[in-house]
Amino acid sequence: MQQITSAHDIQRVVLAARREGKRIGVVPTMGYLHDGHASLMRAARAACDIVIATIFVNPLQFAPSEDFTRYPRDIERDRQIAEEAGCNILFTPTSEEMYPEGFKTTISVGGVSAPFEGIFRPTHFNGVATVVTKLFILTQPDKAFFGQKDYQQCLVVKKLVRDLAMPVEVVMCPTQRESDGLAMSSRNMYLSAEERSRATILYAALQAAQQFIMQGNRTRLSIEAVLRDVLLSVHDITIDYAAAADSEDLSQPDEFAPQQGIVLLVAARIGSTRLIDNLLVR
Ligand code: PAF
Repeated sequence: MQQITSAHDIQRVVLAARREGKRIGVVPTMGYLHDGHASLMRAARAACDIVIATIFVNPLQFAPSEDFTRYPRDIERDRQIAEEAGCNILFTPTSEEMYPEGFKTTISVGGVSAPFEGIFRPTHFNGVATVVTKLFILTQPDKAFFGQKDYQQCLVVKKLVRDLAMPVEVVMCPTQRESDGLAMSSRNMYLSAEERSRATILYAALQAAQQFIMQGNRTRLSIEAVLRDVLLSVHDITIDYAAAADSEDLSQPDEFAPQQGIVLLVAARIGSTRLIDNLLVR
């Protein structure tokens, strides 16, 4: 596996690969890789000739109060995981490389960026859309792989690609979970052992609401009440949102139609760690 840090070099390598007719898959990450990331890399490996994983802790998507400086980093371990998962290229640009002196461009995606994360992290998706656009320009992928764990992010990237007619297929891969159901996330490492066991309540709440819907209940407020009741059964939890929404556009009707896809979305703080999770009910 080749490691590249400069924007110029990755563009040169990618251009040569495209000239040879290779299909390029990209897996954008912020590093501190876990099996969720590895599963995206394996999916890219199965579908593409050249797999590029990118590692860049993007300052633009963190608010000043958030965890940018303490976000976990371990490039040696990441290199090993990416290589084992079949990556050909690890792109690890610096901030100066991604945002050179005088960088002033922001990409803002309307609609699906606005609710949920958009309310609690108002600058987050502009940062994501800007960095993803730049990564797509640098790596020229045919396919880009994202985890369902960040469901709203997947919808934002899909909308970005559609609106700007980028020739990239966005592939959403299933959330990888620990054996007790906790969604894999680099931020899980912030949890103490006791918080870690309470954090399983997010998936338990999603499963309870899913069950409730399967029994024929499609009134949004009653579904959201199930989510909240289960979440609040543990102590020291702060709910940012616990919501049911249309799985395509995140609208929130009072009553879901029989064939309408529903996504259940939760964001909550366990102690001082903010976790998100979701479940699709079709
Ligand atoms: O999901 C992430 O890790 C990040 O938001 C992404 C897509 C790599 C952009 O920085």
